[in-house]
Amino acid sequence: MQLLTVDDARELAELYLAAEWPRRWRHVQAVAARAGELQPVVGEGGELLVVAAWLHDIGYSSRLLDTGFHPVDGARRLQRIGAGFRLCCLVANHSGAAIEAGLRGLHAEQEDFPDEDSLLRDALWTCDMTTSPEGEPVTFAERLTEIRERYGEHHSVAQAITAAAPEIERAIGHVSRHAGAGCDCVQDPVSTELRAGRSGSR
Ligand SMILES: [Fe+2]
Repeated sequence: MQLLTVDDARELAELYLAAEWPRRWRHVQAVAARAGELQPVVGEGGELLVVAAWLHDIGYSSRLLDTGFHPVDGARRLQRIGAGFRLCCLVANHSGAAIEAGLRGLHAEQEDFPDEDSLLRDALWTCDMTTSPEGEPVTFAERLTEIRERYGEHHSVAQAITAAAPEIERAIGHVSRHAGAGCDCVQDPVSTELRAGRSGSR
């Protein structure tokens, strides 16, 4: 098992994303920066949060195409290079991925990487779900709206994120309670628009 450093993780992410996915690379850099800010909130093991933030989207790389589902493809790549299993699982499960895996018929593949219930895992979800595709800080409600608009409300990605929204909100709330008033990324009251959108999608 190889424990990747933050520098290793950044280099890997740049290798897989910067040239092929420049917009997503900007997003990943911002997610990693936010993870660095939240690292003290997580406390011991917080470096793993930053490592996971750098690597959470590497599965979008066409070089890593396997199942076609980026959280699992990224996790599989990390597993092949001998990265720590906990890191693989954090990547495979980031931001409610298990729900989308089920919708895609990839439940068995997803189950190779069990989810964990921890502040670190919730912090990773928070960093990803409060950072726009361009790397700007957004509320989760804004992120959700953007995903629905980008994919269309009936696309599996939009449906999955809608289904995962309560768990994502729970994760953000968990981090917010630990971060206290100084954490500006998690001031995220769910908007009326979001609630209307969610009920409309059922
Ligand atoms: Fe992301």
